[in-house]
Amino acid sequence: MQALPIGVFDSGVGGLSVLRALQAELPHEKLVYVADSGHAPYGERDDRHVLERSHAIADYLIQHHRIKALVVACNTATAAAIHTLRQAYPTLPVIGIEPALKPAALQSQTRRVGVMATRGTLHSDKFQHLLHSLHGQAEFRLQACDGLADAIEHSERQTIAQLCQSYVTALGVFGHQAGQLDCLVLGCTHYPFIADQLALHTGSGIPMLEGGAPVARQTRRLLQQNHTLAPETPAASAEGQPMPLFYSSGVPAQLDAAVTRWLGFTPQAQAL
Ligand code: DGL
Repeated sequence: MQALPIGVFDSGVGGLSVLRALQAELPHEKLVYVADSGHAPYGERDDRHVLERSHAIADYLIQHHRIKALVVACNTATAAAIHTLRQAYPTLPVIGIEPALKPAALQSQTRRVGVMATRGTLHSDKFQHLLHSLHGQAEFRLQACDGLADAIEHSERQTIAQLCQSYVTALGVFGHQAGQLDCLVLGCTHYPFIADQLALHTGSGIPMLEGGAPVARQTRRLLQQNHTLAPETPAASAEGQPMPLFYSSGVPAQLDAAVTRWLGFTPQAQAL
Protein backbone atom coordinates (compact mmCIF):
# COMPACT_ATOMS: atom_id res chain seq x y z
CA MET A 1 0.00 0.00 0.00
CA GLN A 2 2.81 2.45 0.86
CA ALA A 3 4.33 1.95 -2.59
CA LEU A 4 1.08 2.75 -4.44
CA PRO A 5 0.77 6.13 -6.15
CA ILE A 6 -1.30 9.20 -5.34
CA GLY A 7 -3.67 10.26 -8.12
CA VAL A 8 -3.91 13.95 -9.00
CA PHE A 9 -6.24 15.53 -11.54
CA ASP A 10 -7.39 18.86 -12.92
CA SER A 11 -9.34 20.01 -15.94
CA GLY A 12 -5.96 20.59 -17.56
CA VAL A 13 -2.51 21.92 -16.79
CA GLY A 14 -3.50 24.06 -13.79
CA GLY A 15 -3.19 21.22 -11.31
CA LEU A 16 0.54 21.17 -12.03
CA SER A 17 0.74 24.00 -9.47
CA VAL A 18 -0.57 21.50 -6.90
CA LEU A 19 1.64 18.69 -8.22
CA ARG A 20 4.65 20.99 -7.67
CA ALA A 21 3.63 21.45 -4.02
CA LEU A 22 3.07 17.70 -3.60
CA GLN A 23 6.53 16.95 -4.97
CA ALA A 24 8.06 19.43 -2.51
CA GLU A 25 6.12 18.10 0.50
CA LEU A 26 6.18 14.39 -0.38
CA PRO A 27 9.35 13.76 -2.39
CA HIS A 28 9.19 9.97 -1.92
CA GLU A 29 5.67 9.52 -3.22
CA LYS A 30 4.77 8.25 -6.68
CA LEU A 31 2.31 10.58 -8.41
CA VAL A 32 0.00 10.03 -11.38
CA TYR A 33 -1.33 13.21 -12.97
CA VAL A 34 -4.36 13.39 -15.25
CA ALA A 35 -5.03 16.55 -17.25
CA ASP A 36 -8.59 16.41 -18.55
CA SER A 37 -7.73 18.91 -21.28
CA GLY A 38 -10.03 17.21 -23.79
CA HIS A 39 -12.99 18.21 -21.62
CA ALA A 40 -11.74 21.57 -20.33
CA PRO A 41 -12.48 24.17 -19.21
CA TYR A 42 -14.61 23.04 -16.28
CA GLY A 43 -15.24 26.49 -14.89
CA GLU A 44 -17.87 27.60 -17.37
CA ARG A 45 -19.64 24.23 -17.71
CA ASP A 46 -22.55 22.91 -15.69
CA ASP A 47 -22.05 20.85 -12.55
CA ARG A 48 -23.17 17.66 -14.27
CA HIS A 49 -20.28 17.79 -16.73
CA VAL A 50 -17.75 18.38 -13.94
CA LEU A 51 -19.27 15.63 -11.79
CA GLU A 52 -19.22 13.09 -14.63
CA ARG A 53 -15.64 13.90 -15.57
CA SER A 54 -14.42 13.83 -11.95
CA HIS A 55 -15.95 10.39 -11.36
CA ALA A 56 -14.67 9.04 -14.70
CA ILE A 57 -11.11 10.13 -13.85
CA ALA A 58 -11.30 8.82 -10.28
CA ASP A 59 -12.52 5.43 -11.64
CA TYR A 60 -9.65 5.36 -14.13
CA LEU A 61 -7.04 6.16 -11.47
CA ILE A 62 -8.42 3.55 -9.08
CA GLN A 63 -8.77 0.79 -11.66
CA HIS A 64 -5.61 1.35 -13.67
CA HIS A 65 -3.20 2.74 -11.07
CA ARG A 66 -4.59 1.43 -7.75
CA ILE A 67 -4.10 4.86 -6.17
CA LYS A 68 -3.94 5.11 -2.38
CA ALA A 69 -5.23 8.72 -2.29
CA LEU A 70 -6.85 11.16 -4.71
CA VAL A 71 -5.99 14.86 -4.91
CA VAL A 72 -8.58 16.95 -6.72
CA ALA A 73 -6.20 19.67 -7.92
CA CYS A 74 -9.01 21.83 -9.22
CA ASN A 75 -11.14 24.30 -7.25
CA THR A 76 -14.06 23.91 -9.66
CA ALA A 77 -14.10 20.10 -9.47
CA THR A 78 -13.68 20.20 -5.69
CA ALA A 79 -16.70 22.48 -5.36
CA ALA A 80 -18.85 20.34 -7.68
CA ALA A 81 -17.75 16.80 -6.89
CA ILE A 82 -15.79 16.32 -3.66
CA HIS A 83 -18.83 15.19 -1.66
CA THR A 84 -19.94 12.60 -4.19
CA LEU A 85 -16.37 11.39 -4.72
CA ARG A 86 -16.04 10.79 -0.97
CA GLN A 87 -19.39 8.98 -0.96
CA ALA A 88 -18.42 6.82 -3.93
CA TYR A 89 -15.01 5.84 -2.46
CA PRO A 90 -15.47 5.86 1.31
CA THR A 91 -12.13 4.18 2.08
CA LEU A 92 -10.04 6.35 -0.27
CA PRO A 93 -8.61 9.59 1.15
CA VAL A 94 -9.87 12.35 -1.19
CA ILE A 95 -8.22 15.74 -0.76
CA GLY A 96 -9.72 18.84 -2.37
CA ILE A 97 -8.67 22.44 -2.83
CA GLU A 98 -10.56 25.64 -2.05
CA PRO A 99 -9.72 29.30 -2.63
CA ALA A 100 -7.46 30.57 0.20
CA LEU A 101 -9.96 33.00 1.71
CA LYS A 102 -9.16 32.11 5.33
CA PRO A 103 -5.40 32.77 5.07
CA ALA A 104 -6.14 35.96 3.12
CA ALA A 105 -8.50 37.23 5.83
CA LEU A 106 -5.77 36.62 8.41
CA GLN A 107 -3.09 38.30 6.33
CA SER A 108 -4.94 41.36 5.04
CA GLN A 109 -4.23 44.60 6.89
CA THR A 110 -6.74 46.68 4.93
CA ARG A 111 -9.31 43.88 5.33
CA ARG A 112 -10.06 43.99 1.63
CA VAL A 113 -9.18 41.00 -0.50
CA GLY A 114 -9.52 40.31 -4.23
CA VAL A 115 -10.58 36.83 -5.32
CA MET A 116 -10.14 35.47 -8.84
CA ALA A 117 -11.76 32.11 -9.62
CA THR A 118 -13.91 30.38 -12.19
CA ARG A 119 -17.62 31.13 -12.47
CA GLY A 120 -18.34 27.52 -11.38
CA THR A 121 -16.32 27.90 -8.18
CA LEU A 122 -17.77 31.28 -7.21
CA HIS A 123 -21.37 30.16 -7.79
CA SER A 124 -20.99 26.88 -5.93
CA ASP A 125 -22.69 26.23 -2.60
CA LYS A 126 -19.35 25.19 -1.15
CA PHE A 127 -17.76 28.55 -1.95
CA GLN A 128 -20.79 30.53 -0.77
CA HIS A 129 -20.66 28.64 2.49
CA LEU A 130 -16.96 29.46 2.91
CA LEU A 131 -17.66 33.11 2.17
CA HIS A 132 -20.45 33.29 4.75
CA SER A 133 -18.28 31.58 7.35
CA LEU A 134 -15.86 34.52 7.07
CA HIS A 135 -18.52 37.20 7.28
CA GLY A 136 -17.18 40.30 9.01
CA GLN A 137 -13.53 39.22 8.87
CA ALA A 138 -12.72 40.92 5.57
CA GLU A 139 -14.45 42.29 2.51
CA PHE A 140 -13.97 39.92 -0.41
CA ARG A 141 -14.25 41.29 -3.94
CA LEU A 142 -15.03 38.44 -6.32
CA GLN A 143 -14.15 38.18 -9.98
CA ALA A 144 -15.30 35.32 -12.21
CA CYS A 145 -12.53 34.97 -14.79
CA ASP A 146 -14.27 33.53 -17.87
CA GLY A 147 -11.81 32.44 -20.52
CA LEU A 148 -8.66 32.83 -18.42
CA ALA A 149 -8.02 29.15 -17.58
CA ASP A 150 -8.71 28.27 -21.21
CA ALA A 151 -6.23 30.88 -22.43
CA ILE A 152 -3.59 29.53 -20.01
CA GLU A 153 -4.39 25.99 -21.15
CA HIS A 154 -3.60 26.96 -24.75
CA SER A 155 -0.78 29.42 -23.96
CA GLU A 156 -2.63 32.28 -25.69
CA ARG A 157 -0.36 35.07 -24.58
CA GLN A 158 -2.35 38.04 -25.90
CA THR A 159 -5.63 36.84 -24.45
CA ILE A 160 -3.94 36.15 -21.10
CA ALA A 161 -2.50 39.67 -21.04
CA GLN A 162 -5.86 41.26 -21.92
CA LEU A 163 -7.85 39.21 -19.42
CA CYS A 164 -5.33 39.82 -16.62
CA GLN A 165 -5.65 43.53 -17.16
CA SER A 166 -9.43 43.63 -17.31
CA TYR A 167 -10.06 41.25 -14.39
CA VAL A 168 -7.53 42.81 -12.00
CA THR A 169 -8.77 46.29 -12.88
CA ALA A 170 -12.38 45.22 -12.31
CA LEU A 171 -11.53 44.04 -8.78
CA GLY A 172 -10.47 47.53 -7.70
CA VAL A 173 -7.34 49.35 -6.61
CA PHE A 174 -4.57 47.30 -5.01
CA GLY A 175 -2.24 48.76 -2.42
CA HIS A 176 -1.63 49.06 1.28
CA GLN A 177 -3.67 52.18 2.02
CA ALA A 178 -7.03 51.99 3.78
CA GLY A 179 -9.76 51.00 1.34
CA GLN A 180 -7.37 49.27 -1.05
CA LEU A 181 -7.13 45.54 -1.77
CA ASP A 182 -3.92 44.22 -0.24
CA CYS A 183 -4.17 40.47 -1.06
CA LEU A 184 -5.17 38.52 -4.15
CA VAL A 185 -6.54 35.00 -3.83
CA LEU A 186 -5.76 32.83 -6.86
CA GLY A 187 -8.84 30.60 -6.64
CA CYS A 188 -8.10 28.49 -9.70
CA THR A 189 -5.08 26.23 -9.95
CA HIS A 190 -4.21 27.59 -13.39
CA TYR A 191 -3.57 31.12 -12.11
CA PRO A 192 -0.30 30.68 -10.16
CA PHE A 193 1.38 30.22 -13.53
CA ILE A 194 0.47 33.76 -14.59
CA ALA A 195 1.27 35.42 -11.25
CA ASP A 196 3.91 37.64 -12.85
CA GLN A 197 1.38 38.94 -15.37
CA LEU A 198 -1.19 39.61 -12.66
CA ALA A 199 1.45 41.48 -10.67
CA LEU A 200 1.86 43.92 -13.58
CA HIS A 201 -1.63 45.17 -12.66
CA THR A 202 -1.77 44.72 -8.89
CA GLY A 203 1.62 46.36 -8.47
CA SER A 204 4.45 44.72 -6.55
CA GLY A 205 4.20 43.70 -2.90
CA ILE A 206 0.67 42.29 -3.14
CA PRO A 207 0.67 38.69 -1.85
CA MET A 208 -1.03 36.16 -4.10
CA LEU A 209 -2.42 33.21 -2.22
CA GLU A 210 -2.75 29.77 -3.76
CA GLY A 211 -3.76 26.50 -2.19
CA GLY A 212 -1.14 23.98 -3.35
CA ALA A 213 1.00 23.86 -0.18
CA PRO A 214 -1.92 23.38 2.27
CA VAL A 215 -3.28 20.61 0.04
CA ALA A 216 0.12 18.89 0.08
CA ARG A 217 0.31 19.16 3.89
CA GLN A 218 -3.22 17.75 4.25
CA THR A 219 -2.29 14.87 1.92
CA ARG A 220 0.70 14.08 4.15
CA ARG A 221 -1.52 14.14 7.27
CA LEU A 222 -4.06 11.73 5.77
CA LEU A 223 -1.39 9.32 4.54
CA GLN A 224 0.20 9.37 7.98
CA GLN A 225 -3.14 8.65 9.64
CA ASN A 226 -3.73 5.72 7.27
CA HIS A 227 -0.14 4.45 7.66
CA THR A 228 0.30 4.63 3.89
CA LEU A 229 3.05 7.25 3.67
CA ALA A 230 5.95 6.05 1.49
CA PRO A 231 9.02 5.31 3.64
CA GLU A 232 11.27 8.33 4.05
CA THR A 233 14.43 6.30 4.61
CA PRO A 234 17.97 7.25 3.48
CA ALA A 235 17.75 4.41 0.94
CA ALA A 236 14.57 5.94 -0.55
CA SER A 237 16.27 9.36 -0.65
CA ALA A 238 19.30 7.90 -2.43
CA GLU A 239 17.02 6.56 -5.18
CA GLY A 240 15.91 10.12 -5.93
CA GLN A 241 12.44 11.54 -6.55
CA PRO A 242 10.20 9.18 -8.55
CA MET A 243 9.16 10.61 -11.92
CA PRO A 244 5.41 11.23 -11.96
CA LEU A 245 3.32 9.63 -14.69
CA PHE A 246 1.31 12.02 -16.87
CA TYR A 247 -1.87 11.43 -18.87
CA SER A 248 -3.96 13.81 -20.93
CA SER A 249 -7.40 13.47 -22.47
CA GLY A 250 -6.37 16.29 -24.82
CA VAL A 251 -3.03 16.67 -26.60
CA PRO A 252 -0.27 14.96 -24.53
CA ALA A 253 2.45 17.12 -26.14
CA GLN A 254 0.78 20.23 -24.69
CA LEU A 255 0.96 18.72 -21.22
CA ASP A 256 4.64 17.86 -21.79
CA ALA A 257 5.29 21.47 -22.82
CA ALA A 258 3.56 22.83 -19.71
CA VAL A 259 5.50 20.47 -17.41
CA THR A 260 8.77 21.45 -19.08
CA ARG A 261 7.99 25.17 -18.79
CA TRP A 262 6.70 25.19 -15.23
CA LEU A 263 8.24 22.20 -13.46
CA GLY A 264 11.56 22.01 -15.27
CA PHE A 265 11.56 18.42 -16.51
CA THR A 266 10.19 16.79 -19.63
CA PRO A 267 7.84 13.84 -19.22
CA GLN A 268 6.33 11.65 -21.90
CA ALA A 269 2.66 12.20 -21.27
CA GLN A 270 0.34 9.57 -22.66
CA ALA A 271 -3.12 9.85 -24.15
CA LEU A 272 -5.92 8.90 -21.80
N1 DGL B 1 -7.98 24.73 -12.69
C1 DGL B 1 -9.35 24.67 -12.38
C2 DGL B 1 -9.69 25.29 -11.02
O1 DGL B 1 -8.89 25.24 -10.13
C3 DGL B 1 -10.39 24.95 -13.40
C4 DGL B 1 -10.10 25.61 -14.65
C5 DGL B 1 -11.21 25.36 -15.66
O2 DGL B 1 -11.17 24.29 -16.23
O3 DGL B 1 -12.08 26.21 -15.83
O4 DGL B 1 -10.76 25.79 -10.82
